[in-house]
Amino acid sequence: MAKQNFPMDCSFVCITLIQFIASMSFSKSQSLINETNTSTTTTTTKAFFILGDSTVDSGNNNYINTIPENKADYKPYGQNGFFQEPTGRFSDGRVIVDFIAEYANLPLIPPFLQPNADYSNGANFASGGAGVLVETNQGLVIDLQTQLSHFEEVRILLSEKLGEKKAKELISEAIYFFSIGSNDYMGGYLGNPKMQESYNPEQYIRMVIGNLTQAIQTLYEKGARKFGFLSLSPLGCLPALRALNPEANKDGCFEAASALALAHNNALSNVLTSLEHVLEGFMYSNSNFYDWLRERIDDPPNYGFNDGVNACCGSGPYGGVFTCGGTKKIKEFSLCDNVGDFVWWDSFHPTEKIHEQFAKALWNGPASSVGPYNLENFFNKEIKLTIADVVDAPEIHHGEFHY
Ligand SMILES: *[C@@H]1O[C@H](CO)[C@@H](O)[C@H](O)[C@H]1NC(C)=O
Ligand SMILES: *[C@@H]1O[C@H](CO)[C@@H](O)[C@H](O)[C@H]1NC(C)=O
Ligand SMILES: *[C@@H]1O[C@H](CO)[C@@H](O)[C@H](O)[C@H]1NC(C)=O
Repeated sequence: MAKQNFPMDCSFVCITLIQFIASMSFSKSQSLINETNTSTTTTTTKAFFILGDSTVDSGNNNYINTIPENKADYKPYGQNGFFQEPTGRFSDGRVIVDFIAEYANLPLIPPFLQPNADYSNGANFASGGAGVLVETNQGLVIDLQTQLSHFEEVRILLSEKLGEKKAKELISEAIYFFSIGSNDYMGGYLGNPKMQESYNPEQYIRMVIGNLTQAIQTLYEKGARKFGFLSLSPLGCLPALRALNPEANKDGCFEAASALALAHNNALSNVLTSLEHVLEGFMYSNSNFYDWLRERIDDPPNYGFNDGVNACCGSGPYGGVFTCGGTKKIKEFSLCDNVGDFVWWDSFHPTEKIHEQFAKALWNGPASSVGPYNLENFFNKEIKLTIADVVDAPEIHHGEFHY
C-alpha cells in the first residue's frame, strides 16, 4: 500500500463534501407519491451507459479533432484481432466495459459519436484524455460536462423512439459506469504547475470530487439510480510516471501520483456512502482497482504475467515514453512479442488481459475488489419505481423537487 504524502481523511475532504451534499436538500412532496402505489419492474437491466476517459473510450475520440496522444485508431492498437482493425480503444484488444457488456448479455455498447449508432442498449460517452474538471486537457477531449449533455441527447432520442414511459424505465434500470479522474491528477495537476500554485492537493481533490458528485447528481435527477465506479489505479506505477519519477524510490513508482489517486478513491467512497443516505433509491457498485492492480504489478507471476513494470509498446525507460504506434513526435517505438506476459500495454494503459481479469472481479469477485453490489447482482437487481417516477418524473431545480 502506498504511503500517503499528505493527510487525507474524512476530517478534511469529506466533511465539506457531506455538507455540500446535504445542502442539496431533497425533500419529496409527501402527498404526491403514495408509497403503497409502487410497481416493481420485473426485467433486468437492458442498458449500460459509460462515462470517462481512455480506460473505457471505445472510439469517441476517432470523431474529434485532437492530438495523436488522445487517439488509438492506428496500429498496433487492437492488434490481437478481436476487432478487425484498430477501433480507438487504448488496448491491444477490448477494454473493461466490453467484457462487462458481454457478461450482462448485452451487445457491445457503441461510442456515442459513431454515426448511426443504436442506443437501445446504452451508449459510451467516454473520451481518451478527459477529466472530471473542464480544465483537464481542455479543447482536446470531450469533457465530463459535454458527456452529460450527450447523455441528455440520447435520453431525448430514446423517449422519441420508445415513448416516455418505456424510456424512463430504461433510464432508471440502466447502469451508469464512471471511469474518470486519472487525467485530472496526472496532466491536470502534477503536470500543471499553475494548478499546483492555485490549489493544494486537498483543495484540488475536493474540487474534482465536488464536480464528480455533481455529475452523479445530474444523472440521478434524470432518473439514473444504479451507478458503477472504476476506482483510480496506483497512478505512480504507470510506466510513463515511473519514467518521470523524481525520487528514485525503492519500488520505482512515483508515490505522489499514487497518493493522489488513493486520496481520491477514499474521498469518493465516502461520498458514495453519503449519497446512499441522501438520494432515495441511489445504489452503487464501487471497486478497488488500486490494490487489485498493485498486487499484479508487485507480483506478476502469481496472476499469470511475467512483467508488471514495463510497457509492451513504447520506448525509453520502462517503455514509459509514450510513442506506441509512431504517430506522435517520436516515430520509433518497440513492441513486445508476447503481450500476454504484460500488465501494461502502452505507457499509460493496461493490456486486454488486465481489463478482462478486472471485469471478472467486478462482475462476481470478492468484496475486497467490488462492493456493496458486484456487477452481476447489480445488473440483475430489480428496482422499485413509483408510478410517479415512471409516469411523471419530477424535475429538480436548485436541489428541490418541483411538480
Ligand atoms: C395510498 O393509496 C391507497 C389506495 O390506492 C390508499 O388506501 C392509501 O390510503 C394511500 N396512502 C396514502 C398515504 O395516501
Ligand atoms: C395507483 O396506480 C394505478 C395504476 O397506474 C392507478 O390507476 C391508481 O389510480 C393509483 N392509485 C393511487 C392512489 O394513486
Ligand atoms: C468544479 O470545478 C470548477 C473548476 O472547473 C470549480 O471552480 C468548482 O468549484 C467545482 N465545483 C465543485 C462543486 O467543487
